[in-house]
Amino acid sequence: MIFYFSGTGNSAWAARQLARLTDDTACDITHLNELPDLTDARQIGFVFPIYAWGVPGLMADFAEKLPATQAFTFGLCTCGEDAGHAIKRFSRLYPLSSSYSLVMPNNYIVGSDTDDADEILKKIAAAREDLGRISGEIRRQEKVYRVHEGAMAGLKSGLVNYGFNRFARSAKPFFAGDSCNGCGLCAANCPAHAITLREGKPVWATQCYQCQRCINECPKQAIQYGKATAARRRYTIRGYLPQDEQ
Ligand SMILES: Cc1cc2nc3c(=O)[nH]c(=O)nc-3n(C[C@H](O)[C@H](O)[C@H](O)COP(=O)(O)O)c2cc1C
Ligand code: SF4
Ligand code: SF4
Repeated sequence: MIFYFSGTGNSAWAARQLARLTDDTACDITHLNELPDLTDARQIGFVFPIYAWGVPGLMADFAEKLPATQAFTFGLCTCGEDAGHAIKRFSRLYPLSSSYSLVMPNNYIVGSDTDDADEILKKIAAAREDLGRISGEIRRQEKVYRVHEGAMAGLKSGLVNYGFNRFARSAKPFFAGDSCNGCGLCAANCPAHAITLREGKPVWATQCYQCQRCINECPKQAIQYGKATAARRRYTIRGYLPQDEQ
């Protein structure tokens, strides 16, 4: 079983690719109503995006609830550039036999603009190759630590990640502009259930995961985060995948 969490599709795609290449099943943890029985699992994987050089709280909480296992375990985080010590920290919650990072297009448009189309295509092509190699290592149950931690990894995964969770998860600056047609997609798809429709317009709760799905996936590009995002591109992986990988 390969468990994943994904805001804009990178980690979902990586998890599905790994499942296909290792004859396993990919499972979105936001769709689970109860913990699965893993007694006979030969491998257990965790795939998630890096948030401020840390593990998304949702994935950390999920892993903490899973029973211990004798199976081969691996974690793969997708990140725009580098992962810090996130996977090492995850391994303290749920011990991992192997750890990987995979560079994918940046989706954090609240922080900076997304990659341009050329860069996105290059990153996905490189990731596809990486996943081929990684899946071979997982199949052979080789113990590997191949994580691009980047500079000052301890500081970033410690203090900076703490600061992100404490101060940068406000959903209050989100708003929908005039082009919103009230379709409700953002509210239906928010993994934190932090959006409700009021008089046909979305309204955000105080805090959320900052997964960037709503702002990137709105079909009308109507969502903004304060003044920062008006001139920035939107990104989800779907526009860059062949039909059979969507
Ligand atoms: C809140 C937030 C924080 C992020 N922090 C980092 C980071 O510290 N390092 C990095 O390389 N990428 C960072 N990113 C980029 C994502 O990790 C990357 O785009 C990831 O592949 C998105 O995966 P998803 O499409 O499955 O949500 C961040 C993205 C978000 C939304
Ligand atoms: S997805 Fe966009 S258009 Fe649809 S309700 Fe949300 S903000 Fe409005
Ligand atoms: S409000 Fe938007 S950014 Fe926040 S968790 Fe929901 S979909 Fe993700």
